[in-house]
Amino acid sequence: MKICSIVGARPQFIKAAVVSRAVRKVAREVLIHTGQHYDDAMSARFFRELEIPEPDYNLGVGSHLHGKQTAMMLERIEGVLEKEAPKLVLVYGDTNSTLAGALAAAKLLIPVGHVEAGLRSFNRKMPEEINRVVADRLSDFLFCPTPAAVENLRREGVTKGVRLTGDVMFDALKYYLKKAGADEVLMRFSLESEGYLLLTIHRAETTDDPGRLAAIFKALSGLDEKILFPAHPRTRKALKANAIRPGKNIRLVEPVGYLEMLALESRAKMILTDSGGVQKEAYLFGAPCVTLRDETEWVETVETGWNILAGAGPEAIKRAVGTFRPPGARPELFGDGRAAVKIADLIAKKRPKRPMD
Ligand code: UD1
Ligand code: UDP
Repeated sequence: MKICSIVGARPQFIKAAVVSRAVRKVAREVLIHTGQHYDDAMSARFFRELEIPEPDYNLGVGSHLHGKQTAMMLERIEGVLEKEAPKLVLVYGDTNSTLAGALAAAKLLIPVGHVEAGLRSFNRKMPEEINRVVADRLSDFLFCPTPAAVENLRREGVTKGVRLTGDVMFDALKYYLKKAGADEVLMRFSLESEGYLLLTIHRAETTDDPGRLAAIFKALSGLDEKILFPAHPRTRKALKANAIRPGKNIRLVEPVGYLEMLALESRAKMILTDSGGVQKEAYLFGAPCVTLRDETEWVETVETGWNILAGAGPEAIKRAVGTFRPPGARPELFGDGRAAVKIADLIAKKRPKRPMD
């Protein structure tokens, strides 16, 4: 059986790294990189370090406004799918590459499998929310990471093809952590265990709102804590465009590789982020997480008391950093670390049919 997997952005490379390994045991995989992310630090480095097979196609789409970027992907993915005629297309998460991949496949009547289905923020101002809702509607296999995701789909009337597999990012963390070398990484960054906060910010809802971005950096710059900030290129550009200068306590560095990121997360005193993946990793490492958003798709990390939604208000952020202390218990929320194998098994057992059959 031939499967086409579509990736394009940093978190998708990490998810595909573990899923590809499992899927290649049951099917022939053709890997399509849309080219949404293209800097070495955002793309090629992940393929090298995580030993992801070279993409069979790189569509070289690059950065554009949403309409143009998605349209270019759609056109180019369609060409590849027509040529390859796979039995299934796998898409990941909630980026424009996910949307374009699901739409191109569905229009060609090729079944779609969505890894990380059912997530909802219930905020349609986020491009990711639109991408997830559409991808889920078009999918025949909906691989859900959490019971909450299954429940979100049930409420929308979607039950067919829905499977609770656990989260492939937990699989990735378990697999790659042993290669992370935390002591050396901390030495490289001149950091001490639990002596720093780790910050990531990149979501459009934060970077494209100068008031929000400025408020976050005002709050963080006023802290006594040492903060390491591997900055997404989008955020670096937004800071420059809005003349926002992070305080001296904030060390802005290039985006780090996944192995370095695992090392930094595992030793951080606290993690501050608007990333989806980083919220989960904070939980898995038992690092208190302050989420710089007003809502989250990963509700269980908040419900168990390990993640707090501080938004962008300077007072709420300062209070959270100063006082937030999670409880001891950390139940297993993201499966058993075998989500990728379960996905591959499901694909192998339940041979995909054309949609509507
Ligand atoms: C995308 C996803 C987001 C995900 C994130 C993961 C969409 C709508 N958003 O956001 O859900 O959380 O990836 O990191 O798909 N840029 C570079 N070099 C690169 C890539 C991007 O400089 O290699 C800069 C460009 O200025 C570009 C901007 O970052 O315009 C945004 O890139 P884009 O891929 O449009 O969205 P992300 O913010 O990365
Ligand atoms: N990540 C990384 N280097 C960085 C920042 C993040 O390897 O400099 C990893 C992080 O550990 C997680 C994933 O990228 O596994 C999350 O991706 P991102 O925050 O870009 O997107 P999101 O999860 O919000 O869609």
